[in-house]
Amino acid sequence: MTTNYASIHEYSLSEPEQFWGELGDQIEWERRWDKVLDDADAPFYRWFSGGRLNICHNALDRHVEAGHGDQTAVIWDSPVTGQQARYSYAELRDGVARVAGALRAAGVEHGDRVIIYMPMVPEAIMGMLACARIGAIHSVVFGGFAGPELAKRIDDAEPKLVMSASCGIEPSGIVDYHGLLERGLELAEHRVEQCMILQRETRRCQLQAGRDFDWQEAVAAAEPAECVAVDANHPLYILYTSGTTGRPKGIVRDTAGYAVALQWSMRNIYGLAPGEVYFTASDIGWVVGHSYIVYGPLLNRNTTIVFEGKPVGTPDAGAFWRVVQEHGVRALFTAPTALRAIKKEDPHGETVAQYDLSTLRAFFVAGERSDPDSVHWAERQLSVPVLDHWWQTETGWAITGYPMGIESIPVEVGSAGVPMPGYDVRVLDESGNDQPRGELGNVAIRLPLPPGTLLTLWNNREGHRQHYLQRYPGHYLTGDSGIIDEAGYVHIMSRIDDVINVAGHRLSTGQMEEVLSNHPDVAEAAVFGVADADKGQIPVGLVVANQGVERDESELAAELIQRVRDEIGPVAAFRNCAVVKRLPKTRSGKTLRGTMRNIADGKEWTAPATIDDPAILEEIEAELQRLRG
Ligand code: COA
Ligand code: AMP
Repeated sequence: MTTNYASIHEYSLSEPEQFWGELGDQIEWERRWDKVLDDADAPFYRWFSGGRLNICHNALDRHVEAGHGDQTAVIWDSPVTGQQARYSYAELRDGVARVAGALRAAGVEHGDRVIIYMPMVPEAIMGMLACARIGAIHSVVFGGFAGPELAKRIDDAEPKLVMSASCGIEPSGIVDYHGLLERGLELAEHRVEQCMILQRETRRCQLQAGRDFDWQEAVAAAEPAECVAVDANHPLYILYTSGTTGRPKGIVRDTAGYAVALQWSMRNIYGLAPGEVYFTASDIGWVVGHSYIVYGPLLNRNTTIVFEGKPVGTPDAGAFWRVVQEHGVRALFTAPTALRAIKKEDPHGETVAQYDLSTLRAFFVAGERSDPDSVHWAERQLSVPVLDHWWQTETGWAITGYPMGIESIPVEVGSAGVPMPGYDVRVLDESGNDQPRGELGNVAIRLPLPPGTLLTLWNNREGHRQHYLQRYPGHYLTGDSGIIDEAGYVHIMSRIDDVINVAGHRLSTGQMEEVLSNHPDVAEAAVFGVADADKGQIPVGLVVANQGVERDESELAAELIQRVRDEIGPVAAFRNCAVVKRLPKTRSGKTLRGTMRNIADGKEWTAPATIDDPAILEEIEAELQRLRG
């Protein structure tokens, strides 16, 4: 294989079967594939069809069998509880085999779904790997989502069992996971027969007889389960993400393509050799956590850090640097919002100076557009490259970035790097023509997408076609707008749909609008994302009350804020809401969210020619100024 970025990228596009086939041989199979790229069902492509393997075997057993059983696989570092724990590859394999045995004893089999609604504890990772071990399909739900969101996912995935915990610990207080689970189960139509509950000493919960069983007891009593080989395209997991509506999209991940692509990415994007320590400061509820806290590092035989804490406040802005020093971290990956939070609290890098960061080789950011200020700050403080890379829940790994393990290409701050192998990134105009270099357009990727990207949407193959494949035939629509510059770097500017990115968390404004509109006093609602110095974006909601509703407007706004928190969850960070007399609309009745966003962001704005009544915009401007202080 060739050794510089440009030729590797070119080779991956011109000879995809050879490129991925050679990489496929670097993992272990029970049965080798028949076809590397299967286009029988195009535009739904499959990779490594006919192959059979187990990803848990590749992430754990393979390394133990090769003599690395004593190497540390997972370090759990939990500043919120003051605890730490280490698991060697052999210990993790044995622990996972027992959890898998407990699942099997509870009747979970190949193809059954298991929802995991848990905080950042090692058992959560064991739960994911245990599902993979027996061919069950896991679906992790982020703890910042409330009961109703959990219920939607339960109804869509129809799990046989839910794995959860008595509580989680946030700096703002204890999160009652079991109570939230209770609410989710109550609201869901699908009946979940069994819940496996991890009792945490911080706060235990009352198990419900006949439904809940104790994690530790079940694991202690279980027979270890061996790995079950599954088809290359057997779903490894479903991960729900926000789209334009209130219905989350269940991204389905394949098994073999994901294993091959992640192992490649660990070495070539993150530049990590087996045995080195990797720290992804995210949550297993997000794709970043799936790929780079769990599967990627373990496939590549790295030591992965499971961090139950925050960039600031646990106890201070030096939390990440302490972890780097204490565990000898080689590469750190987090969201730009975390960097902003640290920089805000420690602008002069005083906490950075307290730790020895000499093991650190690179700092990676993704999840939202990173602001050059914070990137430069981190470069200065850490004296290592700060590398932005762009990807999505759908793709599972980076679309663009800097392939550190191949060669050190110059960093262009403001861009998210260059396309990774297998990704033929295009910027298209409305008619589907390639935009000239430097011109903004819709970012699309020519099909096929590389291995490890979405297989389809759970229970919604037609939605897969509609959302991603229909707009530009022969392409995957990313939902982002951007530019490819003269040098070939990709700059991601904003979403072209109703998705916003709040503190690195992907959320749907359409979903929040639905919650507001469902309030009996609300006639209509508009939610849009506005720029925020800390969280990147925050949602702002404007509502019009029903005729005849005569109540205190700030009281109604407060009720709506609480409603979003209860229905979607604290993660929505919905704190700005006002009641207005009317919403600005075009003559055809389309709400002018973009214009309102520009007003809120303090950008230059003009009333569109199609506006129904320009005078409304002044009222809106006054209201937004009041809201934003
Ligand atoms: N379980 C339960 N609640 C959670 C939660 C979880 N796992 N994560 C966040 N929440 C809650 C928070 O406690 C907070 O609740 P509050 O309104 O009662 O205070 C609310 O959700 C909003 O959280 P967040 O937006 O994360 O703000 P924050 O002030 O708690 O933390 C950051 C700010 C920057 C530290 C944090 O957002 C962060 O680490 N973001 C990185 C995101 C990320 O990893 N994205 C993945 C791509 S890399
Ligand atoms: P998620 O599916 O939660 O990972 O969110 C994916 C979305 O986050 C992308 O479609 C982008 O809008 C945004 N995003 C992720 N990484 C970046 C990045 N490096 N630069 C700009 N936007 C990004």
